[in-house]
Amino acid sequence: MPSIYLQTFGCQMNVADSNGLAHQAWSLGCTFTDAPEEADILILNTCAIREKAEMRVYSRLGQLKLIKRPQSKVLVAGCLAEKDRAVMRRKAPHVDALLGPRDYRQFKSLLAQWGVPTDLPPPQTPMRLPSAEDAPTLDAPLEYAHLRALVSITRGCEKFCTYCIVPYTRGPLESIPPAEIETQIRREIRCGAKEITLLGQNVNSYLYEGLNFAGLLRRLGCIEGLERLTFLTSHPHDFDREVVDALADVPALQPRLHLPVQSGSDDVLRAMARLYTLDGYLEKVAYFRERLPGWALTTDIICGFPTETESDFLKTLDLVQRGTFEYAFVFAYSARPGTPAATMEPQVPQHERLRRLQAVSAAQNERTRRFHESFLGETVCVLASGPSRKDRTRMAGKSGHNITVVWPKDGAHSASPTADVVVEQAQTWGLVGRVA
Ligand code: 5AD
Ligand code: SF4
Repeated sequence: MPSIYLQTFGCQMNVADSNGLAHQAWSLGCTFTDAPEEADILILNTCAIREKAEMRVYSRLGQLKLIKRPQSKVLVAGCLAEKDRAVMRRKAPHVDALLGPRDYRQFKSLLAQWGVPTDLPPPQTPMRLPSAEDAPTLDAPLEYAHLRALVSITRGCEKFCTYCIVPYTRGPLESIPPAEIETQIRREIRCGAKEITLLGQNVNSYLYEGLNFAGLLRRLGCIEGLERLTFLTSHPHDFDREVVDALADVPALQPRLHLPVQSGSDDVLRAMARLYTLDGYLEKVAYFRERLPGWALTTDIICGFPTETESDFLKTLDLVQRGTFEYAFVFAYSARPGTPAATMEPQVPQHERLRRLQAVSAAQNERTRRFHESFLGETVCVLASGPSRKDRTRMAGKSGHNITVVWPKDGAHSASPTADVVVEQAQTWGLVGRVA
């Protein structure tokens, strides 16, 4: 049976898709390897969200060309396969096939074309994926990987923010039937999952036969054995009080909300076609804070969007300095060919984008550290992700707020998937403590 090397780039959605591809291949009897030089089929599941993500994929393709066996096949899947469909043959001629995010139903027939028999009974052994560098959940050691599961609830996106490539690579919005979502969650719980993350580009636009996202949360909250539930990503335009009320009512929901603001300037928000103003965003946050005190609010911010002036940038900086967010992912704007923003004038020079990014990150780091310090002396319940990568004598995991926590490994506790950890040190990156 052929062996497969699978490497994932990009977001959690890609990680979930990779799991789906791996499952299809496993059901045909394929095995997995973390040695690309030995694999019969090499798959890169790729990202196109920023230019840097693309460059990493092309450089990895270049490396693989040198080490792969001459007869082995290379498949590029994911957003870059869709975006660069026309130019991939020129840029990476050794790629044998492309599958965009909407093409995964053709994966088995592609494997069949490459000589994988499709008429054998399913394998008796459980699926064992080796670690893949870029995929945090696949990366977890096998004993811990099953504790977290990603479950897609929507595919695609129709918001068309002017900077974003995703609606072009992933296509229009589709909501997955609730019964299918429930079946998958039950299956993951049977396999040992403690935490389920619901995934969608904009989960708040979920709608299936009258069931909206708030209703879906309430329905999934009743699933027996579901310990921790969380979701990514919300769009502030569609995020409303009904969802906040559901968050307050479903006990399994973890105390964190990711609500990307992107900018603190109304002019920039308009140019981004984000469909809300800063005040509109803050009003929603105020209701969230009132109903859910103690939750962590995290966000995404883009620095140096075309037309962003110094005064626009200072509004974003001020928003961050006021301590609006417990954590932020801060990005420098990257022009995506074919999106409206790519041709807006004026574009902000790269060095200026980076200067703004550094200022916003530094302000956010201050706030994040203070947030982490608020846990000193407290006991936090942590879901383990395995031995710490930096220090193998320690365990690492995530608290309900999604803060990284590390603690010394000790024989008795290290096998347990959860730990109560007394926090002794707070850093910007996370918390250090000991088992209570
Ligand atoms: N340039 C920079 N950042 C981007 N994002 C999406 N598209 C771009 C782009 N062209 C960021 C947004 C989004 C996150 C997933 O990536 O902040 O919320
Ligand atoms: Fe995920 Fe967007 Fe990257 Fe596609 S382009 S992998 S949807 S982050």
